[in-house]
Amino acid sequence: MPITIKSAREIELMTEAGRILEIVHDELAKSLHPGMSTMDIDQLGEEVIRSYGCIPSFLDYNGYPASICVSVNDEVVHGIPDRHRILQDGDVVSLDAGVIYKGYHSDAARTYGIGEISKEAEDLIKVTRESFFEGIKYAKEGNYLFDISAAIGRYASIRGYGVVRDLCGHGIGTALHEAPEIPNYEMNRKGVKLKSGMTLAIEPMINAGTWEVDWLDDAWTVVTRDHSLSAHYENTVLITDNEPKLLTLSK
Ligand code: MF3
Ligand code: CO
Repeated sequence: MPITIKSAREIELMTEAGRILEIVHDELAKSLHPGMSTMDIDQLGEEVIRSYGCIPSFLDYNGYPASICVSVNDEVVHGIPDRHRILQDGDVVSLDAGVIYKGYHSDAARTYGIGEISKEAEDLIKVTRESFFEGIKYAKEGNYLFDISAAIGRYASIRGYGVVRDLCGHGIGTALHEAPEIPNYEMNRKGVKLKSGMTLAIEPMINAGTWEVDWLDDAWTVVTRDHSLSAHYENTVLITDNEPKLLTLSK
């Protein structure tokens, strides 16, 4: 599949999809507290998404059974909400969500600490977020896609973190996953030239220990092989002829 270049009208719709998803994340962030279940997060998320007339894009995607991916501690991504999984003080929780607005997708993830978290956890969350911002310094028309990948990977790995290699970011538009794939590590080629009107979900997944991951028997949940903590940070990004626009982050 070729990489789609969005028209002005499509960019309007994706901007609205992004704006709504930012509100969803803000509502989820406010609700987080020890004692709640990961299913509570999913229920609230689905409610907020539908209250804006949107569809939760993850629900039933390849059989995924929920609207919000909730991944705790050594879970990297795609954790399945569970009413028996209760958040506790000190947990590191990654929330990944996607909405469809009038046929257009947005996708974003955030990682939070519950109550007091360790210095190790704080640093991991911070470096994961920073690696995203390091990457998008290169998200400009005329640069190459893997400039972004290399910048993210370099930023996290020189700080001693494990950069997940088994999952990537992606193009996004009328489908959740469009071309191109966006690795979070250095490639030995440049990748495609970035063009104004491309929309990309850029999503570093960073581990406190090894980069290696495993899949649990539920066939969804990705965990770190050494059970070290993991963090995830993602925004839907529009390439312009100037600075990139973060469609899922206005502040
Ligand atoms: N943001 C994730 C991704 O891009 C989550 C989608 S997987 C789903 O892969 F199955 F949960 F939808
Ligand atoms: Co994504």
